[in-house]
Amino acid sequence: MAISLQGITKIFGQGPRALKALDGIDLEVPEGTIFGIIGSSGAGKSTLVRCVNLLERPTSGTVCVGGVDFTSLSEGELREARKKVGMIFQSFNLLARRTVFGNVALPLELAGWKKEEIAPRVEELLDLVGLTVKRDVYPSQLSGGQKQRVGIARALANHPDVLLSDEATSALDPMTTQSILELLRNINEKLGLTILLITHEMNVIKEICHNVAVIEKGRIVEQGAVLDVFTDPREETTRDLLGEIIGVDLPPTFGGLDFSREPVAGGDLVIQLRFFGNVAAEPVMSDLVRRFDVDVNILTAHIDHIRNVPYGTLVVGLSGDEARRQAALEHLRALDLKMEVVGYVRQALCPAR
Ligand SMILES: Nc1ncnc2c1ncn2[C@@H]1O[C@H](COP(=O)(O)OP(=O)(O)O)[C@@H](O)[C@H]1O
Ligand SMILES: [Mg+2]
Repeated sequence: MAISLQGITKIFGQGPRALKALDGIDLEVPEGTIFGIIGSSGAGKSTLVRCVNLLERPTSGTVCVGGVDFTSLSEGELREARKKVGMIFQSFNLLARRTVFGNVALPLELAGWKKEEIAPRVEELLDLVGLTVKRDVYPSQLSGGQKQRVGIARALANHPDVLLSDEATSALDPMTTQSILELLRNINEKLGLTILLITHEMNVIKEICHNVAVIEKGRIVEQGAVLDVFTDPREETTRDLLGEIIGVDLPPTFGGLDFSREPVAGGDLVIQLRFFGNVAAEPVMSDLVRRFDVDVNILTAHIDHIRNVPYGTLVVGLSGDEARRQAALEHLRALDLKMEVVGYVRQALCPAR
């Protein structure tokens, strides 16, 4: 099911104490996609995700899930509609006095399932999340990752079409985070579930999201396909959140060479190349040297992946006479990569020839 938010605002409190946590949010989450919302602490992420299933009622705006306007439903209709929307949390929210089986069975009991129907469904869910062997243990005997698997099984019990995730991996170590993200990706692909995922970690977005929106002070400041936003972040906030993940920050010096944004007489050009998919940087560079008789000096390099697509950032110094450098730049601009002249370094990077 697609999720469509229009003009969502949320104001907490009244009068001089009033706080606008959400300020005109428009968001379209296509059916079957994993959509990430990222922002720093206090940006309004949890409030936003809670507005989707109306755990928090927006002050204004509409919430449509699968074409149904949740904001116009009666309490009874809403209770029914919410079954289509599962949710998982950072703190897992498991019942300590119930076993793993009991926790996963709970939403089915609340929905009035018959006992003999509950057991096979729970078994099926435990199998899906890889926890069959932990069926009869209590939450206190589980690791963080296992607790979140129980949370996921419980969220999926009523066959939802949408899964909301509020910092589901934020309490987990990197390895466990990875395995939970793989599980979510698997569920998305296998069940066609639409996932709206809230996080403050770009790594999470990078691993599994198709689309991303950046939220700041209750507003969405940037959104798009993850590959586009990562390779061409437009907003300062996005660049900050991306930080060292993609190496957009240029160091003030490169191995002792002062970096300058302004042209420097006799200095070298510093260019940044971003590429993804099949464009490999190395042949591009050697080709440049061969064809244009310039010298290329790699200042920083960073290779990573977004979902499974390789992605890299390369910062290189370019020396040689001006005409040849311009020809080289011209050539780079025509390739399937993003090229930007980011500045200059004062000294020649390569000895004079
Ligand atoms: N129930 C509430 N009452 C009053 N203020 C709240 C409430 N929930 C959240 N806020 C405020 O709304 C803002 C956004 O909070 P939240 O959505 O939790 O941000 P995030 O999840 O991005 O850290 C914060 O300033 C927070 O203090
Ligand atoms: Mg939060």
